[in-house]
Amino acid sequence: MTPKAPRERTTATAAGVYDWYLNGHHHLPCDAEAAIAAQQAFPLAGQTARYNRDFLQRAVRWMTEHGIRQFLDIGSGYPTAGNVHEIAQRYAPGTRVVYADLDPDTVEVSNRLLTGTPDATCLQGDVRDPDDILGRAELLDFAQPVGLLLVSVLPFVPGDVGPLVRRYLARLAPGSYLALTHLTPADDERIRRRQADVEQTYNAKVQQNVHMRDPDEIADLFAGTELVPPGLVLATHWHPPRGYRPGPDDQASAVLLGGVGRIP
Ligand SMILES: C[S@@+](CC[C@H](N)C(=O)[O-])C[C@H]1O[C@@H](n2cnc3c(N)ncnc32)[C@H](O)[C@@H]1O
Repeated sequence: MTPKAPRERTTATAAGVYDWYLNGHHHLPCDAEAAIAAQQAFPLAGQTARYNRDFLQRAVRWMTEHGIRQFLDIGSGYPTAGNVHEIAQRYAPGTRVVYADLDPDTVEVSNRLLTGTPDATCLQGDVRDPDDILGRAELLDFAQPVGLLLVSVLPFVPGDVGPLVRRYLARLAPGSYLALTHLTPADDERIRRRQADVEQTYNAKVQQNVHMRDPDEIADLFAGTELVPPGLVLATHWHPPRGYRPGPDDQASAVLLGGVGRIP
């Protein structure tokens, strides 16, 4: 039997669900159905996704302003407005970007979009295989600092991811940065119960299962780096846009930690 083309799939993917939350154009009906079910279990799911994307954009801008001219974005998802290369090249033209994702459809769509953009490309690769991804990221010069983006990809990798992150960091030049976000259980018990519900709903419907990690475990992923102030914080509190004020309903920010660490 011929394998189904990714466009014909009937099971939701993490990339498709995320695209639906971001009002993108690449999800399929099965993604929308899973996204809506997850949102029913946890009404702040879409808001959390948008906060995640906003963090990514602020972190890329910050690193570009601090001299980074090449990025490796793993678990990059579908290209949506304000992609890493668009943000970075707006502030520093010529910045090189390698995207990588496990999902072949996101890779195909990304490379279609990147046609005619010589400084950016997308590889199909698994974050669990650093040698493979780093070996094929030929657009990047690993003797020079790189901004490594592991933004909301490690929740899709079960088990102890510390050794994996350290394998990436060991290959990066001094002055490189690691930016990551990760889902975490909220302090508030009511939110935590909702999180357990949404995890169950999501994992029943989406091909890639999601796992939360405790703040200590997420902080340990930055071992060997110097955390840029304000450190590992709620993603919305990391260099927030001017005028940002968390409101009483803004509990989506309680479940996503974000930080950037510099390799000395
Ligand atoms: C929530 S999206 C995050 C997209 C983007 N990093 C962002 O923050 O805007 C998670 C992405 O990780 C990808 N992914 C999941 N497991 C992966 C793995 N083992 N290796 C590479 N990518 C993976 C999914 O296909 C999806 O595109």
